[in-house]
Amino acid sequence: MRTKALTRFRARQEWRFFGALRTAAPGWTWAWWALIVLRGVVPAVASVAFGWLVGAVERHGSLTGPLVLVAITFTTTLVMQPVHQLVSSNLGSSMAAHLYDRLMAVCVTPVGIGHLESPELTNDLTMARDFDLGMMGPPLDISMDFVAGGLVQLVVGLSASVLLFGFHWWAPPALLVAWGCTHWLLRESGVWKDRNTDEVRTAQRHADYAYRLAVDAAPSKELRFFGLAGWVTERFIGRRSRLYELQYEATRMREKSVLSCLAIVVGVNLVVFWLLGDAASSGAISTGATVVFVQAAIGVSAIAFGGLNWALDGASAPVAALARLETSVAESSALQPGAGRLLQFGPKEIRFRDVHFAYAGEGRTVLDGFDLTVPAGSSLAIVGLNGAGKTTLAKLLCRLYDPTSGSIEIDGMPLTELDAVDWRRRVTAVFQDFVRFELPLCVNVAPVGAPDDVIRAALADAGGEAIAGGNLDTILSKGYPGGTDLSGGQWQRVALARALCAVRQGAEVLLLDEPTAQLDVRGEAEIFERVLTASRHCTTILISHRFSTVRLADRICVMDGGRVVELGTHAELISLGGRYRTMFELQASRFTELDDDGAELVHESL
Ligand SMILES: Nc1ncnc2c1ncn2[C@@H]1O[C@H](COP(=O)(O)OP(=O)(O)OP(=O)(O)O)[C@@H](O)[C@H]1O
Ligand SMILES: [Mg+2]
Repeated sequence: MRTKALTRFRARQEWRFFGALRTAAPGWTWAWWALIVLRGVVPAVASVAFGWLVGAVERHGSLTGPLVLVAITFTTTLVMQPVHQLVSSNLGSSMAAHLYDRLMAVCVTPVGIGHLESPELTNDLTMARDFDLGMMGPPLDISMDFVAGGLVQLVVGLSASVLLFGFHWWAPPALLVAWGCTHWLLRESGVWKDRNTDEVRTAQRHADYAYRLAVDAAPSKELRFFGLAGWVTERFIGRRSRLYELQYEATRMREKSVLSCLAIVVGVNLVVFWLLGDAASSGAISTGATVVFVQAAIGVSAIAFGGLNWALDGASAPVAALARLETSVAESSALQPGAGRLLQFGPKEIRFRDVHFAYAGEGRTVLDGFDLTVPAGSSLAIVGLNGAGKTTLAKLLCRLYDPTSGSIEIDGMPLTELDAVDWRRRVTAVFQDFVRFELPLCVNVAPVGAPDDVIRAALADAGGEAIAGGNLDTILSKGYPGGTDLSGGQWQRVALARALCAVRQGAEVLLLDEPTAQLDVRGEAEIFERVLTASRHCTTILISHRFSTVRLADRICVMDGGRVVELGTHAELISLGGRYRTMFELQASRFTELDDDGAELVHESL
């Protein structure tokens, strides 16, 4: 029973919050707690000093002792408050940094990426990501001071109650219970307990999304072009107002609880003060003691609800969200790095064995018994309609997800058993939605570093030697001094160069997902031939809708319904007269209809 209560207590977000503080910055945490205790005890000492002073005045005794004590408590109170504020601010910043470090680990450590897309984890991810932006409450470097203030008040009340034991043993517990009631009865009004509901989270996300649409550069074109400025503003204001309404509804003062609080607090205080007055007037306690007890009885009120619940709830909520994320990620076997087996040599064969796959939370099966063997050193093109599952297949081969059933085997070894880091060193890819780093050109081509001549050679292979005037140090973003932005096709060449640079540095499998979609027709055929030459020792998997590049591959696989429906060389598939031939001829006839040099060129090459 006791252990159960203890476990429940330890699972509380406040407990986790204080635990995390200690890990984040042990030194600041000790100083923070020490100051809480000191600031909390000093008012009780001051009460004693005043009582002593009044007693001394009454007895015509020496005032030096009590006056020195009054002066010490007074100056200590004055000095400690700003010092504590500083400590709280530093501790808050360290705690925010600690939580961000943990969040980064949760986001980047898992082998797969499913957790970043999971609808169940999105709310916690958003909370853990945005907690310090001041959108839902003050940032931690400020709220730590509010929490400290609340805890100081708690210690002030407790230490005042200790003094009251000198009056009557029952007075401290009675007053503590009375003032403590405010925490339970008014908690509803201070803490937004329901902030994790779907409605709140959804309103928050929609408000945030509308805000970003309004202030970010990327959507600014569509915003103007489609006249969406008013719509975005209205949407933002609407969702934000809904948030405020929900918060107000959840935390507004409720008549009933306020009245019961008032009744309990007034009742108990009346009894204590009446008895104090009685004892003082009958001479049962001295004037000095009366001064101490009166101040102590008033001092107990410091434990009343004074924002501690609110401040602590806001500050500890992100810790709880992060802890939930960490637990989910740790429990998800799909995100684990595998048994860590290493391939002795370069892969000789990649085998998709009856692979089935559906995205988490989606009913639709994307891959439905995909079966294919790709011999090492060969090139394979994959074609299929939009949504056929081509990119999904590429992501599975990179182990960003694991198959729902079936397996991907490298020389007979399931990918899930291979060391993920070692496998990824052997694979490189250009994804359809490749990343555009706001970093120098050289970092964009070789994020983990490579000699300049290798970077330049990779850029040349991708036909990008003239990008940014050939200056590898140019930052590829207009947001930096001397920085520049590239056209869509130039970016694609940079992404290709990144993969080709990895090939030059030893990658054995090259995955190209629509690598030439944004290149002009002249560039496309030429670049792809260059890419094939640069990666001839690799296993190359090309996903493309452009048949002028597809036909250059050793074998072509047509995907439909999540499985292979045709497989063979360009010539074989044309003579088969199936789906490939239909798609090929459709595209070829489109080009003949066009009357421009580039199109003619492609048509000839088809
Ligand atoms: N992260 C995801 N979560 C859920 N569903 C997804 C996700 N990515 C893709 N899908 C769905 O999986 C299916 C296959 O998508 P995929 O991107 O693999 O198609 P594709 O063959 O590459 O299409 P395209 O030719 O348009 O690039 C689509 O129905 C798509 O909606
Ligand atoms: Mg795709």
